[in-house]
Amino acid sequence: MDSFEFNKIAGSVLGTLLFVMGLGVISDGLFSHPHMEKAGYALPGASEGHGAGAAEAAVHVEPLPALLAKADPKKGEAGAKVCTTCHTLEKGAAPKPTGPNLAGVVGRAMGSTDFGYSDGLKGHGGAWTYESLNAFLTNPKAFIAGTKMAYGGERDPAKRADIIAFLRSITENAPPLPAP
Ligand code: HEC
Repeated sequence: MDSFEFNKIAGSVLGTLLFVMGLGVISDGLFSHPHMEKAGYALPGASEGHGAGAAEAAVHVEPLPALLAKADPKKGEAGAKVCTTCHTLEKGAAPKPTGPNLAGVVGRAMGSTDFGYSDGLKGHGGAWTYESLNAFLTNPKAFIAGTKMAYGGERDPAKRADIIAFLRSITENAPPLPAP
């Protein structure tokens, strides 16, 4: 190829590079990434093995067993104040019209007390384990489609673990905590 043609090609390559760089600068400005420092992936099974610790520290997601091991039921009782708008917590207490009684809920079959549950909860099947409580209380509607529980969820994993520890404290013969 002659040098004129080479210049043309080099010029268009350079032009493309500049264009792409320009786009990057502009889009960085347009779309700031406020969540990037926290975002990441909570890898399944990240609690096993050694290198996982660093990955968890980096994304600030501790596995549920570790959170439950250091959870404080007293703090959870305070955190569960919001639940008492709709739920009774004392053993043997009648449910409110707004929610089932929660005494003994850990390990209990889902939707199994004398309450007018939603079809979604009744049809779910299974028991309330620490894991399913954690998922439900993170985002009730995401865990059980069509749930009647009009509560947005507790997004702070540590506060949620405190609440679950409190639910455990009002459950006789609660299942053992998952081993960290
Ligand atoms: C606005 C009212 C409301 C609030 C606040 C609320 N709940 Fe509920 N909850 C309900 C209702 C209604 C149901 C039944 C849901 C259904 O049938 O889909 C329910 C169901 C449940 C269940 C399943 C019980 C079972 O017998 O299967 C658990 C566990 C639960 N709630 C825990 C909590 C906790 C813990 C809190 C506080 C952090 C809370 N809820 C806050 C209304 C509420």
